[in-house]
Amino acid sequence: MTLFARAALAGLIALASLPAAAENLPSERVRRLIGMMSLEEKIGQLDMPSRGGAYDEARIAAGWAGAVLNFFTPADVARVREVNARSPLGIPLLFGLDVIHGYRTQFAVPLAEAASFDPSVAERAAYWAGVESRAAGINLTFSPVADLARDPRWGRIVEGGGEDPMLNGLFARARVEGFRRGGIASTLKHFAGYGAAEGGRDYGPADISTATLRDRYLPPYRMAVEAGVDLVMTSYVSLNGVPTTASRMLLTEILREEWGFDGYVVSDMNAVPEIVLHGFAETDSDAALMAFRAGVDQDMDGNAYAKALAAHVRAGRVPEAAIDRSVARVLAVKEKLGLFDEPPFDPAAAARVLGSPEIRRAARELARETFVLLKNDRGVLPIPPGTRTVAVVGALALDKVNPLGSNTAAAVHDDTVTILDGIKARAPRGTRVLYAEGCDLHCSTDAGFAAAARAAEQADRVVVVLGEPRDYTGEGASRASLELPGRQRDLLKRLSETGKPVAVVLLTGRPMALESAIGLAPSWLLAWYPGTEAGNAVADVLFGDHDPVGRLPVTFPRTTGQVPITYDSLPTARPGKVEDRFTSRYLDTAIGPLFPFGWGLGYAPVAYGTPVILTPILDAGQTVEVMVPVTNKGERRTREVVQLYVRDVVASRTRPLRELKAFGRVDLEPGETKDVVLKVPAENLGFHLEDGTYVVEPGRFQAFVGGSAAAPPAGEFTVRSEFRRTPARLAAQRFEAGHLTVLGSKRGQ
Ligand code: BGC
Repeated sequence: MTLFARAALAGLIALASLPAAAENLPSERVRRLIGMMSLEEKIGQLDMPSRGGAYDEARIAAGWAGAVLNFFTPADVARVREVNARSPLGIPLLFGLDVIHGYRTQFAVPLAEAASFDPSVAERAAYWAGVESRAAGINLTFSPVADLARDPRWGRIVEGGGEDPMLNGLFARARVEGFRRGGIASTLKHFAGYGAAEGGRDYGPADISTATLRDRYLPPYRMAVEAGVDLVMTSYVSLNGVPTTASRMLLTEILREEWGFDGYVVSDMNAVPEIVLHGFAETDSDAALMAFRAGVDQDMDGNAYAKALAAHVRAGRVPEAAIDRSVARVLAVKEKLGLFDEPPFDPAAAARVLGSPEIRRAARELARETFVLLKNDRGVLPIPPGTRTVAVVGALALDKVNPLGSNTAAAVHDDTVTILDGIKARAPRGTRVLYAEGCDLHCSTDAGFAAAARAAEQADRVVVVLGEPRDYTGEGASRASLELPGRQRDLLKRLSETGKPVAVVLLTGRPMALESAIGLAPSWLLAWYPGTEAGNAVADVLFGDHDPVGRLPVTFPRTTGQVPITYDSLPTARPGKVEDRFTSRYLDTAIGPLFPFGWGLGYAPVAYGTPVILTPILDAGQTVEVMVPVTNKGERRTREVVQLYVRDVVASRTRPLRELKAFGRVDLEPGETKDVVLKVPAENLGFHLEDGTYVVEPGRFQAFVGGSAAAPPAGEFTVRSEFRRTPARLAAQRFEAGHLTVLGSKRGQ
């Protein structure tokens, strides 16, 4: 007899008190199922034990878990499913895993994908990651990370979309859509403010004013919620004195009541009992009560709900209807995924999908969209066809693990195409490729420098792969120094002394402080952590088969002491002047960054013509339009990322010097000019007041158009009428990003 037939037989009554008005009513199937469950089974649905943590096979067999995590392989999943099938109700489990940028096939890390300035890159990567995961039995990922990260000392900056709220949100949204298309549920994390941990120290507290929280930190999360993300995960940090896992303001008032989120909230791993360690609850049992009341539906591996929630219900501190409502949310996610009607799982079938040629091809194509050419003096790149000898230097060039980046789910290291192999495979017939290590990953000795210099001396082009080993980023990987690790700078200096043209390929998951190294090589290609197809993707760009098209989604500082440094800082009455001490500056370095947000070169130079503001006066419901001609001045095709920044000149709160409001990629043939129009809904030009009200104030705005956050002024426009929305009405406002259209094009220089 099927589960549902049993439910029907039991004649169980639909639950009257489910759920809050903003949410969808549970389906008939979910209501019946809840009607059949004991309190322990219900609380089990609110528990997500981890392999190697709170997981206990006996609890699965009893039906006392709704989800599990960290079962990596199809065989592991199959085993747990078998045990679960023996449980009284046999409710399918969610199998969660950190599929952040790939399951078996690794795509470029999320920060790299943001550098494409093309959210469809993330959508496609998430789609394939979803396809591989689902084939392996994983039906839930803990991604996207929409934590705005404005301090690169924080190692988890690699997992998100960088420092700009709109860019971050567009990529988070794209990942939600991609995972859904790939067949798995997604989790927005870490709600909220995790990226603002003090000093960039992971797990540290965050203190953010309400207005800034709403202006900068909340919009990316909001956009993922709008895209229909299934779960929201809390974070490890306390925000303004309240652990986020115990924050009713975040998890209920903002997430559900304002934004209408109708999925379920899971704690971060062990974050429920950690409320005690924050000094916010006396016991794990109190912490469970606080988290549940705040709005956490499911406890990830904390074992606090499993131990304490039933007692809280029996003592009347938690109404059973509230438990039912959380259970309904969990079951609704399972239903949406089709888990109740899933055919039997065949772990062997996964082998046909994982790492298939189609997926590998996608990984290569998408990775090369993310590379940023930081500098290219004397046209050192691309490597010209007649090059006789290329010397490749650096331990990272030969490495199969580090180019994958952190968080690599079920990656198989042997799959990785090393950078050296990629270069060898692509180098034209007759081009010799030499290799020298120079130094190991941490570069603690110069013993190999002489051999590296000898290889360079024999070459026409030197490619040196520098940067951070992957463990320098990710969770628990904060750094106090953003300089190149160990003696990598000395190695570069040694190579530059050979006088040969040197191109650096930089692997990193965060902005690095390169001031003292940048001058030592004419060409720098930032390749981030490109994933499984690293070598092929890097070779595609080094040899010019594909232009570098990425742009920085984060500011690159000169020195670590400048951080946090972002492009959208607030005005000061005394902007930095070299000759005036009493201005906002450093005594020992320049005030500006080494490379601004949005920066990146192609292989062909691009020139901007005079911009025209097409809408000099407008009302709040209208769209700002700025036109600019963009010309390819080079001899090869190129792709430019045209960016529009806006400043509200006078407002009732000081406003950033500029904020990215619209962007788009434009393909240009040699000599071609395109007239492009950047459009922003005027409603996007506002900001929040401390009481949470969103307002676009009438008045003057300045526009800046160009290829980075250092774009020159394009003129001014005036918004005539006010637009205002109180928090209670914010759900009505969907976020529509600015974008670009091409008006016309002409050829010829
Ligand atoms: C991380 C989360 C992750 C979870 C499960 C935690 O330590 O903060 O991002 O999803 O572990 O692996």
